[in-house]
Amino acid sequence: MKTIVTGSAVEAASFLRVGQLVAFPTETVYGLGANAFDSESVAKIFVAKERPPDNPLIVHVGSREDVGRVAREVSPVAERLIEAFFPGPLTVVLPRGERIPDIVTAGLDTVGVRMPRHTLALELLAAAGVPLCAPSANRSGRPSPTTWEAVLEDLDGRIACVLQGEATEIGIESTVVDATGDEIVVLRAGGLGIEELSRIGPVRFAGDEGELGGVPMSPGTKYRHYAPMARVVAIDDAREAKAGAGAAFIGLGMPPDPGSFALYRVVPDSDAYARELFTFFRVCDGMGVTTIWAELPKPAGIGVALRDRILRASRG
Ligand code: TXA
Ligand code: MG
Repeated sequence: MKTIVTGSAVEAASFLRVGQLVAFPTETVYGLGANAFDSESVAKIFVAKERPPDNPLIVHVGSREDVGRVAREVSPVAERLIEAFFPGPLTVVLPRGERIPDIVTAGLDTVGVRMPRHTLALELLAAAGVPLCAPSANRSGRPSPTTWEAVLEDLDGRIACVLQGEATEIGIESTVVDATGDEIVVLRAGGLGIEELSRIGPVRFAGDEGELGGVPMSPGTKYRHYAPMARVVAIDDAREAKAGAGAAFIGLGMPPDPGSFALYRVVPDSDAYARELFTFFRVCDGMGVTTIWAELPKPAGIGVALRDRILRASRG
């Protein structure tokens, strides 16, 4: 299959209408979209990404009103989350609506719903006229793509079209919360900070592996994710990094002997860190780096999600 790269949301939507896959930019990372109401189209996502079938997909909607097309019920707390944070880097898990096929939710009775805050993504959703289920547009196990070039690196020849935008604004995935009950339960830390969520109501973490009473609440969190080919070593302080020919460093402080790293990047703050982390991983892979020293930021704001991604990558 030849993969078309286009800047036109209308052209990209024409592929969705005939059951093909389209990668598109959002404010978090690039997603790989298919018509969420059509199980045959959705099945192609699992093939293209080599994604395990028990990992459910997030359904993207083009307006707050469209949440009602994909969810059966919206709890009062979910209502407040949607009001406050849609569009934005938040996915809300709700009771699944009737039109959502099993393949989207991996058979779960819930569905993750998100309204992206990105002009091209919203244009695509409007032109498609249906909700789009979309995981990150990487091959399973690879870092999520933050540029259209990274999408092609993983999926060229496997998907019909890439809607071409800028590098993504946030750089890591959305925060996923379960809002089926009275509380806000965080299943995956992400682009929306816990501080923001706490303004709406009490927030609880589902636990390290996203397990509540032994049940993986966010099945995707059990897989190795976000990982480059190099070994990632998470460190609390830049001074712990060790330079060498096959070594790279990324973090907020200056590592010792920076000139002796194959590559090093000192970022000014956590927001820049989030924007650059996955691209840095991919560049390291391209250069044949064998060890990446990654300094953990403070667990505040987007730092919580960054720590999660770095620690997951380090467990590879
Ligand atoms: O920012 C993002 O969320 C990006 C963009 C494209 O929107 N998408 C993304 O999708 O990161 P993906 O498939 O790579 O990650 C989705 C996560 C997985 O951990 C999955 O298990 C969880 O959300 N998830 C989806 N539906 C769920 C559900 N019904 N219950 C619990 N977890 C769910
Ligand atoms: Mg993903």
